Amino acid sequence: MRTLESINTRGKAALKRVPFKRDLLAQEIQNASRGDLRLDEPMGPHTTFGTGGPADLFFAPESLEDISKALPYIRDSGLPVLPLGGGTNTLVREAGFRGLVICLTEGATRIEIVGDRGFAQAGASLQVFSRRCQRAGRTGMEFGCGIPGSVGGAVRGNAGAWGGETLDKVSQLNGIDLSSGDVVTLQKNDVSFAYRHTDLSPDLLITEVYFDLAEEDPGVIQGRMDEMLSQRKATQPLWQRNAGCLFKNPTGTSAGLLIDQAGCKGLSVGAAQVSELHANFVVNLGGGLAEDVLSLADQVRARVREESGAELELEIRVVGEAGIENC
Ligand code: EPU
Repeated sequence: MRTLESINTRGKAALKRVPFKRDLLAQEIQNASRGDLRLDEPMGPHTTFGTGGPADLFFAPESLEDISKALPYIRDSGLPVLPLGGGTNTLVREAGFRGLVICLTEGATRIEIVGDRGFAQAGASLQVFSRRCQRAGRTGMEFGCGIPGSVGGAVRGNAGAWGGETLDKVSQLNGIDLSSGDVVTLQKNDVSFAYRHTDLSPDLLITEVYFDLAEEDPGVIQGRMDEMLSQRKATQPLWQRNAGCLFKNPTGTSAGLLIDQAGCKGLSVGAAQVSELHANFVVNLGGGLAEDVLSLADQVRARVREESGAELELEIRVVGEAGIENC
């Protein structure tokens, strides 16, 4: 298993910026497609934890078609690509990212519910999709009513809560293989998944997802959602900047419980603090750095190991100059 120490070491192997390649690609994307294209875009505003240096290039296409138009140039450039959804489960290091971020939350947010079939483009909000299913009298996605983030991100990490998880309800997904440029369609059986895990290739940009739903009274679904939302409000620090649970739950127990029992609540490094309310959340008290979170995570992991023998694994994805470091 990768340790944070090994992640840190790799993060320090600083990559060089390649301004010429970057500027050329920016020009080509702008000529070929429509969308919001930015240079040296700070990542803090694009993540819920609020940290991160600049991405060399940040592209929010106006539609999925615009990705296809830009793709040949992106592939030719050889620059690393980071798909980003709502940035709710992502911690970007202060050094930023030496590549192209593709963000679908502006131009690929269409949702349709027809009978028992739900459809969402990857940039759609999971909470909005969950709500639309409820209104249409379709059950299956209510677990997502309080989970921030995009449908694409929820599929990739098999997000879940209250006993439900995303891949349970997915019937098909479409995407683009960023290395070959091929459009890919996967049926549920093609994807192997487990708790907070899928075996989807890091090269796959998820673009569209189909879900299997079932008919139920909207009021009954609403009742379940109310219960989930009030539980979440009572147990999670929703009013503070955070990236959701920091660690995955080890089999048969809860990381939050173990961290709490190891006496870590309130522990802090810089402005990153283990939440007093839920010990598996690290909150940003203002100006917190990714490096603070990661050093806090190391301390928490060591204390838990000492106290209970359990080995905690990060649930959030850590992005450094070369891309995702812990996938
Ligand atoms: N607990 C403590 N102290 C704490 C936190 C929790 O004693 O500081 C105890 C609780 O009292 C409870 C047990 O630990 O007895 C489990 O806690 P909770 O019900 O809050 O669930 P969890 O396992 O900590 C998981 C998910 C959450 C999801 C909730 C609700 C993970 C890592 N976490 O939390 O998901 O919202 O269940 O379904 O799987 C996320 O993935 O980012 C996330 C927040």
